[in-house]
Amino acid sequence: MYSKNLIDIEAMTTAQIDKLVKKAKKIMQSPADYRHACDGKILATLFYEPSTRTQMSFQTAMLKLGGRTIGFDNPMNSSVAKGENLKDTVSVISGYADIIAMRHPVEGTAMAASLYSDIPVINCGDGGHLHPTQTLTDIVTLSCEKGRLDNLKIGVCGDLLNGRTVHSLIKALVKYENNSFTLISTPELGVPLYIIDILEKHNCKYTISHSLADAVKDLDMLYMTRIQRERFKSEEDYLSQKDVFVLDKEKLANARDDMIILHPLPRVNEITVDIDDDPRAMYFKQAQYGMFGRMALILLLLQDEDFVLKVRDREICEHRCKNPKCVTQTEEYLPNYSYEKLGMHMCDYCDKRID
Ligand code: CP
Repeated sequence: MYSKNLIDIEAMTTAQIDKLVKKAKKIMQSPADYRHACDGKILATLFYEPSTRTQMSFQTAMLKLGGRTIGFDNPMNSSVAKGENLKDTVSVISGYADIIAMRHPVEGTAMAASLYSDIPVINCGDGGHLHPTQTLTDIVTLSCEKGRLDNLKIGVCGDLLNGRTVHSLIKALVKYENNSFTLISTPELGVPLYIIDILEKHNCKYTISHSLADAVKDLDMLYMTRIQRERFKSEEDYLSQKDVFVLDKEKLANARDDMIILHPLPRVNEITVDIDDDPRAMYFKQAQYGMFGRMALILLLLQDEDFVLKVRDREICEHRCKNPKCVTQTEEYLPNYSYEKLGMHMCDYCDKRID
């Protein structure tokens, strides 16, 4: 089965990612050629969780393509405040707009929304789970700044457990030849097991490190992330992890001259501001590349009939997912969709094991 929804970057083939990067570069070279590409089209941005870059870059992308935008950035100003469920909100908005970009604090929400939408749904972040368009941003940046998406030594550092951008980035870059990863975190905030499974399934080299100063020495790209305060059970737990890894001038002195530093932003304290002027610091340029990547994505989803994404085979499971952060816990009408992995039932919304 195929769809026009971008829920998980895993659904994109390398050919599709490469096609998107190529289109983003063409838009960067000749933006005027695309000024009317989406005349008459409407993007709905449904942001149930705060955002600066993702929401505004999607809005700017559609405006630069000649389209218009509707939406909310605070669900309490919509009928969600009166108790409207996700299904009803999405069913109605899919009758108003041509494409939906949505963010939600609950895992699996974009996938759930796609079940009730007649128009493409783009996942702009679902809890600590996935953030595929940040990955497209990162990939456009890598392609423009390193000239390749393969044979890269990649360091990812920070909150690898809750950092959805890291999960999507690894899922995409394992598809390319000879990429290797250094996973730099505290033992408490390492990547979820399912991401380790993906690395192993692709025979991808990875090492686990607890020292940023050591790990930074031989990398092509260092991907810093913030500790995701909003995903912790208590302030005490958050404070115990805060500021463990800070990239400063002293540590950066160990890195290669051609290493680039990416960060999905927002930054809290994990990169000192005196690094911002270092030519290796790409995070502000990265945010701008993201807008071009999103312009390319909107065009491909709305105008390219061949640009369809594979949907994995799903079935109805007897049991409900028990992950307290899964959308199936809050939207009771959702079917118990699951998929099979190594003989186990996995939740099709949040990717956690069901039984
Ligand atoms: N990178 C990212 O998702 O930023 P925002 O939260 O500002 O959208």
